[in-house]
Amino acid sequence: MSIIKIENLTKYFNSKKVLDKVNLEINEGESFLILGRSGAGKTVLLKHIIGLLKPDSGKVFVEGIDITMLSKEKLDRIRLKFGVVFQNSALFDSLTVEENVGFALYRHSDLTREQIAKEVSHYLEMVDLKGTEKLYPHELSGGMKKRVAIARAVIYRPKIIIYDEPTTGIDPISVDKIVSLINELKSKLSITTLVVTHDLNVGLKIADRCAFLLKGRIIFDGKREDLEHIKDERIIQFIRGSSFGPIKEMEV
Ligand SMILES: Nc1ncnc2c1ncn2[C@@H]1O[C@H](COP(=O)(O)OP(=O)(O)OP(=O)(O)O)[C@@H](O)[C@H]1O
Ligand SMILES: [Mg+2]
Repeated sequence: MSIIKIENLTKYFNSKKVLDKVNLEINEGESFLILGRSGAGKTVLLKHIIGLLKPDSGKVFVEGIDITMLSKEKLDRIRLKFGVVFQNSALFDSLTVEENVGFALYRHSDLTREQIAKEVSHYLEMVDLKGTEKLYPHELSGGMKKRVAIARAVIYRPKIIIYDEPTTGIDPISVDKIVSLINELKSKLSITTLVVTHDLNVGLKIADRCAFLLKGRIIFDGKREDLEHIKDERIIQFIRGSSFGPIKEMEV
């Protein structure tokens, strides 16, 4: 059974159609990539998957349960299945690294402070940030913030981890580190991984399967290898743009 299934999802903001009959299935344990230019609707799609947004029409199933109809309490429980690394890392500025990473455990577990501290230090070690417990987010580089956000997302052992643009705005060496970390966590924790990016090179290093979102519509859905034989000119342009540096905004 698919762990996430999206059926005919349509979303408008004001009168603008941002998602247009999106259908998508993600299987348990796989690494799925959603590609698309800036503004294609990638983050909006993710927000529907974790129930932060409600569709105008269509359904989102998580392990067979339609989450678009759930009460807030039930939805909160489903959300614990997800670890999310937001596009801007979204750390709590007034909390230390330790408090940020341990956040879900403080809220949702019966562990003592000492036990949480131990867990936090284990996960910080996993993301190569040992000893940063007492630092505040403003004392961290962009790449470090991402890694703190990743530790925070996985500490509750979610079934699915979602990364929204995990490598945007960080230097190439840190990008490589994040990509290796995502792949390492995937195998260590056997976690279903959903990555959203407009960086094809990064995406291809992570994904088994991918979908291409264009102006709110899925125009490709298949195996990573299938992208190599793609005939769709709009995707070819995107792939070319990605391999020759930043994508230029072009009308497709
Ligand atoms: N809360 C909102 N209210 C109104 N419009 C919104 C809202 N959130 C997103 N949009 C619009 O929806 C469209 C898709 O936005 P989205 O953030 O999903 O793009 P994206 O593919 O994630 O882009 P990027 O790669 O830049 O992150 C954009 O036109 C955006 O302006
Ligand atoms: Mg986005």
